[in-house]
Amino acid sequence: LHVLVLAGGLSYERDVSLRSGRRVLDALRAVGMDVELRDADIALLPALAADPPDAVVIALHGATGEDGSLRGVLDLCDVPYVGCDARASRLAWDKPSAKTVLREAGIPTPDWVALPHDRFSELGAVAVLDRIVDRLGLPLMVKPAQGGSGLGAAVVRENAALPAAMVGCFAYGSTALVERYVPGMDVAVSVLDLGDGPQALPAVEIVPRNGVYDYAARYTAGRTTWHAPARLDSGVAANVAEVALAAHRALGLRDLSRVDLIVDADGQPHVLEVNVSPGMTETSLLPLAVAAAGLDFGQVLSALVARAAA
Ligand code: DAL
Ligand code: MG
Repeated sequence: LHVLVLAGGLSYERDVSLRSGRRVLDALRAVGMDVELRDADIALLPALAADPPDAVVIALHGATGEDGSLRGVLDLCDVPYVGCDARASRLAWDKPSAKTVLREAGIPTPDWVALPHDRFSELGAVAVLDRIVDRLGLPLMVKPAQGGSGLGAAVVRENAALPAAMVGCFAYGSTALVERYVPGMDVAVSVLDLGDGPQALPAVEIVPRNGVYDYAARYTAGRTTWHAPARLDSGVAANVAEVALAAHRALGLRDLSRVDLIVDADGQPHVLEVNVSPGMTETSLLPLAVAAAGLDFGQVLSALVARAAA
């Protein structure tokens, strides 16, 4: 099988993606795969047409990789890829849409308001922000409705901090997701389907050194401590796994995903978001979960590739 790993692209997460792509490449090479890495640039389409790979691994994060557009191009070229289809990807990528689907499926997700930038301008910032605090209370989590890696995200603990958080958020996207902040344990549950249906890997507990899991904490070695499996009672851990699988299914995902959750003090999980192109870097969570499950990362990837190409 000839495998193409796509990484880079033009999203805010380009650097992360290049690191993910490199690690995926190395892991597939280590298990003997014929694999090459390339950027998702303007020459991609002719390259796919001239020499179609047997399967693509999408290590692109952010726009293009996760918004369904690249998957649409691969569909057009009839090139199989690991991961969900374009429609499901687009749904999961848009956090407010995904949260609506999760809530309709009875999966707990924190209360939220989606705020497009023009609405913010049209009604006046103060009036809008007051209304949001009245509705959701404090603290709040502010993040771009579409995006990843903690870029443009901030916890807001007092009214006075909200305007700056909104500005930081709108730097990365035209719609903000303002969410009730749920205190608790940050966990990530990776979901894999190696042929027997989706299975949840052990939850990974995330403990950022400075208390905030921002871009630096995610991608700088030593800035975050992980516990895999997460330090949860077995009943709670089983429920967290169930909820993560339910979220993966509700969004119509395939092959792999990573469900990010908060487990509150009562052991209740709250789904924050679901990633269809989870980070694969040296400090990323899915590879950690794979190791915690006693699996080999390269073997897992090659099984996913074989399934995609079949
Ligand atoms: N958006 C990053 C890559 C992640 O979810 O891991
Ligand atoms: Mg994300």
